[in-house]
Amino acid sequence: MSSLSLSAPAKLNLHLEVLGLRRDGFHELAMVMQTIDLADELIAAAAPPGQLSLSCSEASLAVDGSNLVLKAAELLREEVSNPQLSAALHLDKRIPIGAGLAGGSSDAATALLLLNRFWQLQLPEAVLLRLAIQLGSDVAFCLAGGSQLCFGRGEVLEPLASTPPLGVLLLKDPLVSVSTPWAYGRCKALRSAQYLEGEEAFETRRQALRSGALLQWFCAAAQAGPPPVLRNDLQTVVAPEVESVQLGLKLLEQAGSPLVVAMSGSGPSLFALYASPAEAAEAGASLAPLSAENGFDQWVCRFTPARHG
Ligand code: C5P
Repeated sequence: MSSLSLSAPAKLNLHLEVLGLRRDGFHELAMVMQTIDLADELIAAAAPPGQLSLSCSEASLAVDGSNLVLKAAELLREEVSNPQLSAALHLDKRIPIGAGLAGGSSDAATALLLLNRFWQLQLPEAVLLRLAIQLGSDVAFCLAGGSQLCFGRGEVLEPLASTPPLGVLLLKDPLVSVSTPWAYGRCKALRSAQYLEGEEAFETRRQALRSGALLQWFCAAAQAGPPPVLRNDLQTVVAPEVESVQLGLKLLEQAGSPLVVAMSGSGPSLFALYASPAEAAEAGASLAPLSAENGFDQWVCRFTPARHG
C-alpha cells in the first residue's frame, strides 16, 4: 500500500460531570461526547523497514516519541511483535492544541485505525479499544466518535442511536490553552468535599444522565425547543480563572439565537449549538468581526455521526 489517510475529528462535551475519585487517581466521569466536522488529517506512507517517523503541519507540536500518534504506532507494533513494521506519518493539524477538543486523543485513535489498515493487521475493535485506553482517557471515544455516553475514566462507552443534525459555532483564543491535569487538579482542590463515593452512588448518576432531560432532548427527532443548560463541572472551576472563557461565552450568547452555550472539556474552547448548520453559519458571519476584534478564532461546524470500520 503506497499511502492511506484518515480524518481525526474533534469532540465537544455536551455533559461533563465529575462524580468522584477512582482508586487509580483518575476522576470517575459521566459525559456525553459528540464529534464535529473540524478534523485533523493523518496520512501514512511507505518507509524503510523498521522506520517510524512523524511530520506535522503545525511547527509547535512535538513530532518525537512523546507525540500520541507515534505512541499509538509503537503500541501496535508491540501488540503484533513486529518491530519491522514501518510508516512515514504526516499530520495535517487543524484542531487547535490544548483546547478541550480532544485533538491529540483523536489523532491517537486515528493512528490506531489507520495503521491497523495500512499494516493489514486486522486487529479486532476490542484490541484497539484496549490499546486506546493505554494512550489516554478520551482515545477510546475517538475510535468511533459520533454521539456517545462515556463513563469510567471516559473509556466505558454507550453509543447513542442517532446524531441530530445540529450546527455549532466554536470559539477559541489562539493565545490561551488549558492543561487538562491542571483543570482536574483545580476541580479536586475546590470540589472534592462534594465528590460521591462508591459504585452505587456513581451508577445512580449514570442512570440519571441516561434518562435525563439532555438525552430526551438529544434523542427527540425534531429537537423541539432548546436543550437544558449543559453541565460541565470543569467549566465551573476553569471559567473563574481563565478570562477568555468568560469573554467567549458572552460573545457566543450574542451570536444569533443559540440553543445553548458551554465550554468543551477542560477548555478553553467554547461552543454554541444551533438548530441547523445554516443557522450556525449565519450566527458565525454576524459574530466574525467581534470575535476577530477580541482575538478569537472561530469555526462553523456540524455534528458528525460515528465512523465505522
Ligand atoms: O487520560 P489523559 O492523559 O487524557 O488525562 C490527562 C490528565 O487529566 C490525567 O493525568 C488526570 O490528571 C486528568 N484526568 C482525570 N480523570 C479523568 C481523565 C483525566 O483526573 N477521567
